[in-house]
Amino acid sequence: MEDIKNITVLGAGAMGHGIAQLCAVAGYNVVIRDIKQEFVDSGVGKIKWSLDKLASKGKIPADVAEAAMGRITTSLDLKESVKNCDFMIEAIPEILKLKQDTFKEVDAAAPKQAILATNTSALSITEMANATKRPAQVVGMHFFNPPQMMRLVEVIYQPKTSKETAEVTYQLAKKVGKEPVYCKKDIPGFLANRVMNPPGNFLAWLVSEKIYTAAEIDSTAHFKLGNPMGSFGLMDYVGIDVGYHVQKFFEEKEPPYKVAPILEELFKKKQLGVKTGKGFYEYPEKTWRVPPEWSKEKAEKFDPLSSAMVAINRAVQIVADGVASVEDVDKAVQLGFNMPFGMLQLADNQGLDNVVKKLEELDKKYGKIDGLHALLDPHPLLRKKAKAGEKFYK
Ligand SMILES: NC(=O)c1ccc[n+]([C@@H]2O[C@H](COP(=O)([O-])OP(=O)(O)OC[C@H]3O[C@@H](n4cnc5c(N)ncnc54)[C@H](O)[C@@H]3O)[C@@H](O)[C@H]2O)c1
Repeated sequence: MEDIKNITVLGAGAMGHGIAQLCAVAGYNVVIRDIKQEFVDSGVGKIKWSLDKLASKGKIPADVAEAAMGRITTSLDLKESVKNCDFMIEAIPEILKLKQDTFKEVDAAAPKQAILATNTSALSITEMANATKRPAQVVGMHFFNPPQMMRLVEVIYQPKTSKETAEVTYQLAKKVGKEPVYCKKDIPGFLANRVMNPPGNFLAWLVSEKIYTAAEIDSTAHFKLGNPMGSFGLMDYVGIDVGYHVQKFFEEKEPPYKVAPILEELFKKKQLGVKTGKGFYEYPEKTWRVPPEWSKEKAEKFDPLSSAMVAINRAVQIVADGVASVEDVDKAVQLGFNMPFGMLQLADNQGLDNVVKKLEELDKKYGKIDGLHALLDPHPLLRKKAKAGEKFYK
């Protein structure tokens, strides 16, 4: 950790500029590399704007902001940008071939001891590591958007990542002000997204099968849980295309997982939510509003805890597979999704025997629907703990 002085960030886009800013404020010399001067300039401009704003609000001293700007240099040349780096963080577009080629080139040009990290959300870190001759020094370092604000960083091992590499990455995440968690295997969705995305697909299946309407499910979340947007309102806000791609990703990686037909239909009809004026609901002004079809009466129909059961089952699977500790999987969900508690805490509070019972009921009702049995069948570890009267937390 003490040897790390110089960090190179590849990509000056949404994530790269934010990550570079964090590193510069923490005292590292930062090189930002992008493929065109205008992209580099735009990233650096955003860092300056952000630091000026933080300084004017008194969140950081003006001299700290100025010193951070002074530690940033830029480059268009990949080899040049990494030749003195101790740690590289890649935040270029989500295309595996591009990332593999980049890792190969960086491996040839960067100092031997340098650690090479990727901020990928979904691609195989293993395949990036295998494109290099230093796979023990390749690791996932997954920031959340916007990196300046979101506290979570997932530190992901691929099979060849050394403990030292992961530990240095963890310490670096702390040094730049984040709260890291370990994800010990290179699995689809890592921790936070792996737990929190399938419940949305489960709900979308219930709508696809016309068991509930989106307004009934969201009214429950809104009026009973105080959730401002509900699941479908949030999907409309973020963009149906974004949600669709995430669910399609799980479908490809984890059969029998299947994207809900309603998402596929909206995506194909280009009803992408707020930005197109129509998704699950209509938005005449193309800005988000509480859908007029939500009501307190509709909020009585759906059990708001159903989708949380899916999330609990996924969190249990992560722990059972030795991918993360109970504390880390909960911390990832809390910090990654701004939740007041983690899913295993929720399971303990509900009582594990109740969770098993609820999942069994859901499985009985909906388990025949394409791919849902795998999400609803209570995980053996959950059953075992429930039977033994145990909890996840002491
Ligand atoms: N945006 C998010 O919410 C988010 C969250 C977590 C992780 N990620 C991941 O972070 C990575 C970057 O995402 P983003 O949203 O910042 O993308 P972005 O499109 O905003 O930025 C990518 C930048 O990389 C540049 N680039 C392209 N090829 C390059 C190369 N060979 N070398 C250097 N720069 C190159 C592009 O010009 C662009 O400026 C992706 O892997 C993405 O999956 C994104």
